[in-house]
Amino acid sequence: MNKAADIGAKAQQETAAVPDEGAVRFSNVTKRFDAVTALDNVSMSIKPGEFMTLLGPSGCGKTTLLNLAAGFLSPDGGEIRIAGERMNDVPTYKREIGMMFQNYALFPHMSVAGNVAYGLKVRGIAKPERDRRVQEVLALVRLTGFEDRTPRQLSGGQQQRVALARALVINPTVLLLDEPFSALDKNLRASMQVELREIQRKLNVTTIFVTHDQGEALSLSDRVAVMSEGKVRQLGTPQEIYRQPCDRFVASFVGDTNVLRGRLEGIEGALAVISVGVIKVKVPSGAVMDVAASAPIDLFVRPEHLVMTEATPSCATSGTIAAHVYQGGHVDTYIECKDSSRDRLLVRSAGHETMARWPTGSTVGISIVAGEGVAFV
Ligand SMILES: Nc1ncnc2c1ncn2[C@@H]1O[C@H](COP(=O)(O)OP(=O)(O)OP(=O)(O)O)[C@@H](O)[C@H]1O
Ligand SMILES: [Mg+2]
Repeated sequence: MNKAADIGAKAQQETAAVPDEGAVRFSNVTKRFDAVTALDNVSMSIKPGEFMTLLGPSGCGKTTLLNLAAGFLSPDGGEIRIAGERMNDVPTYKREIGMMFQNYALFPHMSVAGNVAYGLKVRGIAKPERDRRVQEVLALVRLTGFEDRTPRQLSGGQQQRVALARALVINPTVLLLDEPFSALDKNLRASMQVELREIQRKLNVTTIFVTHDQGEALSLSDRVAVMSEGKVRQLGTPQEIYRQPCDRFVASFVGDTNVLRGRLEGIEGALAVISVGVIKVKVPSGAVMDVAASAPIDLFVRPEHLVMTEATPSCATSGTIAAHVYQGGHVDTYIECKDSSRDRLLVRSAGHETMARWPTGSTVGISIVAGEGVAFV
């Protein structure tokens, strides 16, 4: 068994022995740069084979967390474990980590094969084994036949695949990806995302992926850690993050949302009854459990959970159509609705019928799909 596979097998045994251990575990990790606390007491456990995404606005500490996992930085407090072993003082070259960053920094004068083989060469793997592994991983990223080209003779997407091959060829225990697709155009980015996920699943390699693109995070990940200001605000599956955001920040950062003014009517077990205009909606009571009855509440509702109707007195609210934005598969309609919301409401409708039915300037009623929405004080 080669060294990396050996490490992988060891990781599995240890994880089996200590189920809570995780492939990568950050425990109370803090990192400061002078006055800036880049990471503030972060704890997170990534399961073997899991695709974990760190999502958050610029400066929230995503790259810092990856750099700590890679060993480019050491923490000021807390502990980092990979496959159960404490890594705080282990140098990068002993961590068996595959990395791919936004500027994938291929060696420009080396061939594709040379670039991919580099990590094996520095690990002292003999040439026949090296060649075999390079061929194997180039086939995986669909670049067989490109061995002798230099990076300059490749498209952006092909260069990105060389970078991925270079990260994977060492059979890493963990794959760290920092906004790897942000330089690619939309279509290429979408196809690289699919390809990455297929390869990641095939190899079952534990992956930490950094992005500030919420669509990318939701579509790719097993779980997402939403970060802000050096803290993890919520960690959950894409569905949990999107449908049950834990606070206002997560609700507004992940996906589009509307904020409707409402009032708490009462709590019925796990549900809060919120009045919006003349209607009442029931949503999970979590964040408003301890709020006094009749307190003002903000109801966060996704654009696909608002529906345009004829304006009747029984609608949640009504407003004037400011603009329709045709998006191909759906239409985004912006509605001025000062009674219920500080901002224009965004309603997302499938197809394009709404545009003809309610032209810009017309008055529409708005209703909320039953059971949808999250309430915050
Ligand atoms: N070497 C450094 N010296 C000083 N401050 C740093 C250093 N590296 C990061 N920081 C600061 O730490 C904080 C977190 O930075 P980090 O690079 O982790 O953010 P990020 O979430 O990756 O942001 P982006 O999405 O812009 O890449 C920021 O305030 C940043 O300015
Ligand atoms: Mg970054």
